[in-house]
Amino acid sequence: MKIMLINGPNLNRLGSREPSIYGKKTLDDMITSLKDKATELQCEVVARQSNHEGEIIDWIHDAGDCSEGLLLNAGAYTHYSYAIRDAVSSIQIPTIEVHLSNIYARESFRHTSVLAGVVVGQVAGLGSIGYELGLQGLIHYLKGEG
Ligand code: DQA
Repeated sequence: MKIMLINGPNLNRLGSREPSIYGKKTLDDMITSLKDKATELQCEVVARQSNHEGEIIDWIHDAGDCSEGLLLNAGAYTHYSYAIRDAVSSIQIPTIEVHLSNIYARESFRHTSVLAGVVVGQVAGLGSIGYELGLQGLIHYLKGEG
């Protein structure tokens, strides 16, 4: 089973970006842990990161063509990109939205996710373990167990 992980803008700065909010792990650290978890769960994670909306949209389309599920942290695009929402709606595979921080406990502009209505679920506020929980949730959903 192939799962795509797409990280959006500024997530390449993890490790040094506001560590009190996002933690000290780098994106590479998180991807390594997620791939270990994926091996344990007998699936494969393909990870991508971009700071550009159009590239993220292209990868969402690719995920729809080549993967069985999508884990998506769209960063700040979460809060206003209808184009990314439409891309998620356009694919036939399930998407889980992940956030390191609890977007609902932060500034009011982060309380809205325009993606929320087109994903099967969200994980927010649990830091890097949230990616692993999102992966588990996605597999659970794909197996029809939940
Ligand atoms: C984020 C939360 C967003 O509000 C923010 O713009 C990010 C990261 C998170 O993982 O907590 O870039 O998606």
